[in-house]
Amino acid sequence: MQRFVISGGNELNGDITLQGAKNSALPILSASVLVRGSSVLSNCPDLTDIYAAARILTHLGCKVHRTGQNTVIVDNPGVSLTYIPDKLMREMRSSITFLGPVLGECSECRLCLPGGCQLGPRPIDIHLDALRQMGVTVCEDHGGIYCKAEEGVKGAKIVLPFPSVGATENIIMAAVKADGDTEIKNAAREPEIVDLASYLNKCGAKIHGAGESTISISGVKTLNSCEYSVMPDRIAAATYMSAALITGGKLRITGTDGLDIESFAVFFGQMGCSVYVYDNSIYVKAKKRINAIKSIKTLPYPGFPTDMQAIVMAPLSIADGTSIIEENIFESRYKHVDALNRMGADIKVYGKVAVVHGVNTLYGADIEATDLRGGAAMVIAALAAEGTTEISEVQHIDRGYESFDKFLHAAGADIVRKS
Ligand code: UD1
Repeated sequence: MQRFVISGGNELNGDITLQGAKNSALPILSASVLVRGSSVLSNCPDLTDIYAAARILTHLGCKVHRTGQNTVIVDNPGVSLTYIPDKLMREMRSSITFLGPVLGECSECRLCLPGGCQLGPRPIDIHLDALRQMGVTVCEDHGGIYCKAEEGVKGAKIVLPFPSVGATENIIMAAVKADGDTEIKNAAREPEIVDLASYLNKCGAKIHGAGESTISISGVKTLNSCEYSVMPDRIAAATYMSAALITGGKLRITGTDGLDIESFAVFFGQMGCSVYVYDNSIYVKAKKRINAIKSIKTLPYPGFPTDMQAIVMAPLSIADGTSIIEENIFESRYKHVDALNRMGADIKVYGKVAVVHGVNTLYGADIEATDLRGGAAMVIAALAAEGTTEISEVQHIDRGYESFDKFLHAAGADIVRKS
């Protein structure tokens, strides 16, 4: 297992090229099950989760290869296999987004509950209830799930009890080739949903309203392959913004074309960053001190993203004053707090609320990455800590950040990857 060794204290300065969005690329790769021919996906980040998705596609009979740094080509001769082995499913949480497209394509799918970050219980009841409304019979047995639409998947009017991102994606993908029209009310509105719908629409799907609370889908018979560029990764952008902030540095994050940073840029402004968007880049300039934030509540889009909660907690741990964070999406998303406290932070967790008392200094420590974003928060904290921090289990971080250590090193960080 690899680890990062980071000596803190260097200001970050320079340019970072932003990767394509993991959370967009993964469902788009799943959606390519529905599309015969060659899907050419550019700006597809080079990440272990992307390789896990490619292994599932290969198992289903597609040929997947990467050309250059960032283009993934999926050659789909027509998927007919409907079983995904447990070993492939458990490699990542978002393997569950294969359920909708395999059902949509073959009217049948057998898989098991997915793996992924340990953020508390991650049920898929909302996905399965919606699929039942679309004429799918669901049998669950000891973590195995067998779904069959005896008469093909049918369009339905679905009202989600919560705007689940994964459920919205699965319903869209089950519906694009279904018989009839589907309407999703209380749909997730995340930009990654819009990206998935844009890809499918470019292939000939009829999806309206993605990015709004009501999405309408008219089933079509076939989808044609296309070239598509995955949107930039807003969570990675925020991660580099936090790294600039905590080191008192200045970064230009390039390749941010069309990225809407409104939902979180305001918080970086409050913490003491100047943030400008210009010419497909984000410019971040930190002031010397970091300000605490009275209240951050994670909420479905356009609220503050849960994936950025850990990422902003790192700079807030050395802010002037006390910040209050409320995690409303996942039950158990404070696993990084122990590690930050071992580095000298003063963070107390009361259920879903974390009270972050800013301290003057963080200190290097030996810590373990617990999950993807928590691990990224530890790296950010280490960049500003006095002394050396060793972070083990960095495979969690590699799931979501392309060349993280290389980009940080190029911007001036003292970070080394060791085996
Ligand atoms: C996606 C993102 C993840 C992000 C999350 C919320 C990907 C690959 N992952 O995850 O990075 O943190 O959105 O923005 O895009 N829930 C249920 N039943 C269900 C489905 C969800 O109770 O059937 C609950 C979950 O346990 C969780 C909440 O709803 O508490 C949000 O889950 P959801 O929006 O589905 O997140 P994911 O799609 O798993």
